[in-house]
Amino acid sequence: MKKTIIILIVILIGIQFIPLDRTNPPVQSDFDAPADVKAIIKKACYNCHSNETKWVWYTKIAPISFLTASDVHDGRKHLNFSDWNKYAGNFAKVKEKIWEEVREENMPPWQYRIMHSNAQLTQEEKNILRNWALTK
Ligand code: HEC
Repeated sequence: MKKTIIILIVILIGIQFIPLDRTNPPVQSDFDAPADVKAIIKKACYNCHSNETKWVWYTKIAPISFLTASDVHDGRKHLNFSDWNKYAGNFAKVKEKIWEEVREENMPPWQYRIMHSNAQLTQEEKNILRNWALTK
């Protein structure tokens, strides 16, 4: 029993040294939308879908750090509000996709909503996003 605990502690310490990419690359072209829309997206989505991730203390502790780093990496790959102009010509589609994910409560992911109460969007906030997303 004692031995198991010691081994676990050694593993927990050891994994702290596994290198992870927690960088914020430069913002290319920031998300362009009306102020109310942008405020909602900023508080609920930017941590994973922008180059302005706030790496709070627990994102630096393994094994949580593995999950947050991989979410940010994946999130940016799928949709990056810091590279907004790359969707030019495709805005209608991207906006529709954003609304679809919010409407179906896929985004922000549930485990993120538990940790961040302000990412739990109210009906009013969802209405604002919907009106923006579905207006050409
Ligand atoms: C905790 C990190 C995290 C947050 C916060 C987050 N997302 Fe995501 N998002 C991801 C990840 C990871 C993926 C890619 C894998 C997947 O689809 O689950 C993704 C995928 C997406 C996609 C799908 C793109 C595609 O190509 O299918 C959209 C759209 C999206 N997110 C929108 C949003 C919006 C809008 C918000 C805020 C309301 C948000 N996300 C908040 C992590 C996040």
